[in-house]
Amino acid sequence: MRNSFVYIDNACTTCPKPETVYAAVVDAMKIGASPGRSSHRLSKQADQIVESARVELCRMFNTLSPEHVIFTLNCTDSLNIVLKGILKPGNRVIIGPYEHNSVLRPLRRLQRSGVNLAIARGAGEFGIDCRHFEYLCSQGVDAVVLSHASNVTGAVLPVRDLAEMTHRRGGLVIVDAAQTAGTLPIDMKEMGIDVLAIPGHKGLLGPMGTGALLLGKDIPVLPLREGGTGFKSEGEDQPEEMPWRLESGTPNFPGIAGLLAGIHFVQAEGVDRIARHEAGLARALVAGLGEIDGVCLLGCREPQTGVVSFLLDACDVGETAKAMDQVYGIGIRAGLHCSPLAHRSIGTFPGGALRASFGYFNTCSHMERLIAAVRDLASKEKLGLR
Ligand SMILES: Cc1ncc(COP(=O)(O)O)c(C=O)c1O
Repeated sequence: MRNSFVYIDNACTTCPKPETVYAAVVDAMKIGASPGRSSHRLSKQADQIVESARVELCRMFNTLSPEHVIFTLNCTDSLNIVLKGILKPGNRVIIGPYEHNSVLRPLRRLQRSGVNLAIARGAGEFGIDCRHFEYLCSQGVDAVVLSHASNVTGAVLPVRDLAEMTHRRGGLVIVDAAQTAGTLPIDMKEMGIDVLAIPGHKGLLGPMGTGALLLGKDIPVLPLREGGTGFKSEGEDQPEEMPWRLESGTPNFPGIAGLLAGIHFVQAEGVDRIARHEAGLARALVAGLGEIDGVCLLGCREPQTGVVSFLLDACDVGETAKAMDQVYGIGIRAGLHCSPLAHRSIGTFPGGALRASFGYFNTCSHMERLIAAVRDLASKEKLGLR
């Protein structure tokens, strides 16, 4: 069953992972010691792997230093750490029109303690109304939070331009790169990103339960968690130094080791090549679905990522995704994709949509199988056979 099943749900988490990732996780489990704690050889061996992952992430995304790479549980955790660690009552935050609940929910809670929130309007083909964004900034801005690419529409925001507008008004630029880390080039300095939240388990091909918070400059983020760091243990207060300021407790060493292997894989293949492959499949899917009567496409005509959302006339999205799984052996995702704001912005709230999301291991034949399944479902719907 697994061999014939086609997974096109990579925006959730990438599957499969490179073989080297599985091997690295197992090897780390066998090393078995906690990194950065003890002075014995196994702890040092583990520490070397963790520190290599820090260096590689710093290089890949151009953070201030490897110490400004903080390992987290996932992209949600990274976003919670930074939002709850920097925002104070009275601060004003501007967010994009397509933000995920991992941005919206922490901010809604912070709103209750006095943080002000403004939401920029969408415009064009699933883009952002830059004039409205600039106007919002002119009213005062302490931070902006933007999804680099929407997990619903796949559209990529002009982060560099928006960062410039934000910096002109003295705000901090926080980018949620859940859908782009490892699949689109990101240079924090060049793009004006002060804080980048990334998952390890999506485009970087690492295991679930991995992520990172990357800082482009020294920002005094208050820790969400405090505790043992294996550093300055004599002090009863959390160390000020990074990364210990924001990293406490035994880390997910097997996960980080797997993430390092995923990063090596992405570097060897090349982010540009991965981007071309995933967007190429998405473009071909858009072209194929566009020829089927009853399909309403919800993303860009020329996708830049592997995400394609659509509706099938008169079909319930949940039932359709179920049929995709049970009848056609294809895994796609239906519903609101944890992004009700994005669905409101594109007019598909509360029903949601169907979403296919390609990863590097998807092939043309996977994409064609999905088109054939949609065509079959659409024709059955037309004949009233469903
Ligand atoms: C745009 C966006 N932000 C944040 C997240 C949360 O990522 P994670 O599952 O790593 O917490 C997702 C997950 O799909 C996402 O698509």
